[in-house]
Parts: sequence; structure tokens; C-alpha cells
Amino acid sequence: MTSREIALQLDAADPLASFRDEFFIPDQSLVYLDGNSLGRTPKRTIERLHQVVEKEWAGDLILSWDHWLDLPRRIGDRFADIIGSRPGEVVLHDSTTLNLFQGVHIALNLRPDRRVLVVADDEFPTDRYVVEGIAHDLGLTVRSLRPGIDLSDVAVIVRSVIDYRTAEMVDVASFTDEARRAGAMVLWDLSHTAGAVEFDVHALGVELAVGCTYKFLNGGPGSPAYTFVSHELQSMVRQPIRGWFAQKDQFAMERPFEPFDDIRRVLLGTPHILSLVAAEEGIALSARAGMGAIAAKGRALVAYAMEVIDHLGLTTSTPRDTARRGNHVAVHHPDAPVLLRRLAERKVVADVRPPDIVRLGLSPLTTRFTDVWDGLATLDDLIRSNDS
Ligand SMILES: Cc1ncc(COP(=O)(O)O)c(C=O)c1O
Repeated sequence: MTSREIALQLDAADPLASFRDEFFIPDQSLVYLDGNSLGRTPKRTIERLHQVVEKEWAGDLILSWDHWLDLPRRIGDRFADIIGSRPGEVVLHDSTTLNLFQGVHIALNLRPDRRVLVVADDEFPTDRYVVEGIAHDLGLTVRSLRPGIDLSDVAVIVRSVIDYRTAEMVDVASFTDEARRAGAMVLWDLSHTAGAVEFDVHALGVELAVGCTYKFLNGGPGSPAYTFVSHELQSMVRQPIRGWFAQKDQFAMERPFEPFDDIRRVLLGTPHILSLVAAEEGIALSARAGMGAIAAKGRALVAYAMEVIDHLGLTTSTPRDTARRGNHVAVHHPDAPVLLRRLAERKVVADVRPPDIVRLGLSPLTTRFTDVWDGLATLDDLIRSNDS
């Protein structure tokens, strides 16, 4: 049997195959393997946006704020099905970058006697920039995350669960535990995690996390990010941006700032309603499919991709251990940017992470095993003609 025949068989046996029909896919022949930078468009999102614009915005106008006001928290409650949070522990708001900024400050305020921040040199750029910027402004020290690092004087570590290039997954339970024993807080970035793999904040001991909704959760371009703060921490949260959406009795107006005692303390200003309802539909789809089934398909897609990579003799840095990786694969080639352009000409969409990675995102609700084969076989073909 050829690899493509194996892929066809895997597609035929895929219990999530029907979920692809939940998405609006104008060109079925496009091999879309960039699902983790911008997930596909749920059909329900298109209908819902239409309905919210026409009925709630145009029709009900300002009266709609009655039920819009609490959307960041109501949608946040749906993260119970995605990351195991409890009701009232997640709000959707702003961008991951802003939420990282708030999250570092929240953690710093909980460790006022410590002056060291930790981030890896190869962490996602925005995470590093935020940490370095805060350290610069407050006169703190940044220490690079390395194996065996001393955490005994560290206030906060910012760390991605899944590496944005290789998909390597951190052992979250053991790192969180190590940090806690050293008295340090960890702010986890779940951007490549939520909606891709199974994750249980409480089982793993996570207290503070942020992430985006536009990748595996199919929330749409620029959809709002989220902040998770465990119930135990919430009343102690102090964050640097005082906005009126964090304020108790918000519309009483002439009051000094006195924030809610709950997760709404991290909110700032007027929520982006159209983006929120779009995100809600994407999150609802993942919740309906179930993270167990999504994660199982993700593991199968990546395992198949790794077999094909080996079969074709391509080079990868994605871990071999199935328990230690997320849902994308990294193929290395010195001419990655040229290959990316040629892939696009052959209707295969991937992305490049410098200097030499062609990254292929495998999104369990929409990616077929045949897409994996077609994408990698095309890449291999292009590499052979490029190298000859
Ligand atoms: C790990 C990680 N953190 C943060 C971000 C970006 O955050 P923002 O939505 O603020 O641009 C990304 C975007 O791809 C990411 O992969």
C-alpha cells in the first residue's frame, strides 16, 4: 500500500471526519497546513456574526449590552471543556501580548521580595519582549531559562507549554512543581496548547496562564485572548492597568477604583463583541468534538506525518516521543522561504520559522491525513528539484 492509500484509509476511519463539514471551505483542493496560526472558519461563525450584526447591533442597539456585558466571562466558562478550568477562572479579553504583560505583573505582585524574571532565549518573541520590557522598566534582572537553573530567587517564569517551532511539549506538572518548591510563579503560555492537546490546569498545578484563540480554537483573525487565574489566587490579583470593566458597580461612575474580587479584575475596557462571538463559536466546536477526541486525532496526524517525514528522508526537530509534542511538525531545509513560496504555487499553505523551518500545522477538526501526505509529498518533490 502506498502512503497516500494509507492516508485515505485513516481518513475513512477518522471519527472526527464529519467536523470538517462544520467549516466553510471554499476551495477543497487547497492543502491548508497553517492551521495553527489562523484556524479555519466555522460555518456557525458566519451565521452568528450575521445575526449579531443584524439583530443585536442594528436591531437592539444599546439594549444589547445587557447580555454583551458579561460575554468575556461567559465565554471564559467554556474553557472548562478546553483546559479543565472551573467556572469563573477564565476571561476572554485583549491580546496574548497584553495578557502576558498583565500576568507578569500579577505574578510579580505576589512575589514582592524577588527581583528576577526568567524566560528562555528561544521563547516566542512577544513573550521575551514583554518580560524584557517589564524588567527594564522596573530595574529587574532577566535570567535565561536553562536546564538546572537556580529558581530560588526568581519571581516569575514565563514559558510556553508547546514550542512554537518544534512542537516540543514541556512536562508542565514537574516544572510547575519545581517552581513552586523554589517559591517562584509560572505564567504559562497556552497559545499552541488549548484546543490542540488535552490540558488540565488543576491536575497540572497551573495557577496562571494566557493564550490565544485564533489558532486551534478557530476564533478568527485577531480573536480575543484569554487569562486563566485559579480561584485560589483571584482575590490577591493586582494588575497594572486599571480599567472600568474591572470595577465593582461599574456604572456608579463617581467611585474610587475598587475591582471585583473575581476574575473580572483582569478586564480593562469595552470588550470586542464581534470578535468575542466569533471566538465563542470556534470554542464551542472544540468543546462539542471533545478535547479527548481532538487530542487523539492530533496525535494520530502527527504520528502519520512523522512516518511520512522518515519515509521521504526529510529532516525534522519535532520530538519522537508522542507524549511530548503538540500538533505541528518542523521540517528543516536551508531554503525554507523559497520552498514556502513554491508550496503556495502548488496550493499547499504552510509557514516558515527562521532560519530554516517549514512548519506544518495539523488541526484535528479540519486537517485530513491525505492533506498531510499531499503537503509533505509536495514539499519533498520541491526539495528534490531545488537540490538537484
Ligand atoms: C506562543 C505565542 N505567544 C504569543 C503569541 C502572539 O500573541 P498576540 O496574539 O498578542 O499577537 C503567539 C502568536 O503566534 C504565540 O505563538
